[in-house]
Amino acid sequence: MSADVIVALDQGTTSSRALVFDRDSRIVAVAQKEFTQHYPVPGWVEHDPEEIWQTQKQTLDEALAEAGEVNVRAIGIANQRETVVVWDRNTGAPVYNAIVWQDRRTADTCRKMAAEDGVVAMVGDRTGLRLDPYFSATKAAWILNHVEGAREKAERGELAMGTVDSWLVWKLTGGKLHVTDESNASRSLLYNIHEHCWDDEMLELFGIPRSMLPKVCDSSGICGETSDGVPIAGMAGDQQAALFGQACFEKGMAKNTYGTGCFLLMHTGTDAVRSENDLLTTVAWRIRGVTEYALEGSVFMGGAVVQWLRDEMKMVETAAECSELAASVDDAGGLFLVPAFAGLGAPHWDPYARGVAVGMTRGTGRTQFCRAAIEAIAYQVNDLAECMVADSGVALEELRVDGGAARSDVLLQFQADLAQVDVVRPEVVETTALGAAYLAGLAVGFWDGREEIGRRWAKERVFDPAGDKEEVDGKVRGWRRAVERAKHWEE
Ligand code: G3P
Repeated sequence: MSADVIVALDQGTTSSRALVFDRDSRIVAVAQKEFTQHYPVPGWVEHDPEEIWQTQKQTLDEALAEAGEVNVRAIGIANQRETVVVWDRNTGAPVYNAIVWQDRRTADTCRKMAAEDGVVAMVGDRTGLRLDPYFSATKAAWILNHVEGAREKAERGELAMGTVDSWLVWKLTGGKLHVTDESNASRSLLYNIHEHCWDDEMLELFGIPRSMLPKVCDSSGICGETSDGVPIAGMAGDQQAALFGQACFEKGMAKNTYGTGCFLLMHTGTDAVRSENDLLTTVAWRIRGVTEYALEGSVFMGGAVVQWLRDEMKMVETAAECSELAASVDDAGGLFLVPAFAGLGAPHWDPYARGVAVGMTRGTGRTQFCRAAIEAIAYQVNDLAECMVADSGVALEELRVDGGAARSDVLLQFQADLAQVDVVRPEVVETTALGAAYLAGLAVGFWDGREEIGRRWAKERVFDPAGDKEEVDGKVRGWRRAVERAKHWEE
C-alpha cells in the first residue's frame, strides 16, 4: 500500500525545491535546482518566470520519483515574497521577467512618492509596510510603465499580476486559478491588512488596475487542484511558512531565518502591532478566515554575504570553510563588513546604501573577512532583535533559528552573545518547507492541529549567551559606525 505524504514546494530566491514529508514530518525525498539570476543593470535583479516554473516542476517530478510509491494528499507552497510576475491571461506568457524583491530600480519613485504629504503614513496605516522598493507595487507599476502596450492591456483586463505563489498555482492548474494567500498579499503594498482586501486608494496611488490582482485565499485551506487532481491546500510567503514550521504560535515567539537575507519574525497573535522602531507589520497567516499577524525585521543580505566571499571574492571554496576560518579567530581584528549590496532594509530602509569594509589593517586577510562576514550577519539580526524588543515591550525568551547559515555554530554563538538570548536550533532546520507542508496537511486532515505540530518541534542545540558585556557593546558600537558609512552612497 502506498504511504500518504504531503509535498512542499519551496520556491526561493536562488533555487526551487520540492520536499516530500511523511506523517511523522520526516523528509522522504528532496530535490533542488538553482536557477539563473539576471542583473541587467547594477541594482536590478530579475528572474525568468518560465525558468522558475520549469525548475520547480522538475524538482517536483524528481522528488516524487525518489519517494517511490506514495499517495500525495496535498501540496503546500512557500515562496520568495514580493517578487512580482505580470503575465498575459490569454496566452499565459509573462510580459517581462519577474522583478525580484532585491531589485532597487524603483528607489527614486518611492522617494518621490514619500515626499508627498501624508503618503508614508497612509501606506503604513493600511499595509503595515514602508514605501520602499522592496515590495511588489512599484515593481509591477514599473512593468506597466516600461513594457510597450502593457498598461493598455492591463486596463482592458488582459494582464494578471502576482507573487511567485500566484504564478506557480497558475501553472500548476494549467491557467485555471489566479490566487494568492493573505501572507503574500500583505507584502504587496496594495493590501489593507486590517480590512482584509485590496485597497482602492493603494491601487490608485501605485497605478495598478484592480483586474490584475489575484483572489486572496486562506494560507491553509484547499484553494484548488493541480492538473493531476492534487489539492493545493497551503500557501504562504517563505518567512511566514518558516514561522509556522518553527511552531511559533504564541504571542512573543520569534524565529530568524538565515537565508539569502535574514528575516526575524515575531508572532503577535490576532493584533496587528504597529512598529515604532521601523519594523514591518505583516500577516503571518490566515486560517479559516482568522488572520494572525507578525512583526518583521527584514535584512537583505544575510547568508548571501558568505556566497559573495566564495563566488565573487574567491576567498573560500565552501560556506563551511568560511565558518571554519571565522571560528579560528576570536574577532575580525577591527574589520567591519557591511553587506549593503542591495541597500539596507530594517531598521534603516536605505535603498541607496552600498557595501563597505572598514577598519582594515596590514594584518587583515581572508580569515578576518570570513569572521567579519559571519559577524555582519549576526550584527544585522541583533539590530532587528533590539527593535523587536522595543516594539513588543517584552524580552525575547529565545530565538528559534533556521536556514542554511544556521548550520554555522560560530554564527549562532556570536548571535547569542550579541543579543543575550538563547539561540535555539531545531532538529529539523527545513522549517520553511515544513511550514508549507503543515499548512497544507492541516487543511486536509493529515495532521490534527497546532498542538501536534508544537509537540513535534524539537531542539537540536541551544547556544547560551556568553561573552563580556562591555566588549560586546564596544563591538556593536563599531558596527553601527560602519553602518553609517554605508548609508546614502548611491544618492
Ligand atoms: O522577502 C524575501 C524573502 O521571502 C526571500 O526569502 O529564502 O528566498 O531568501 P529567501
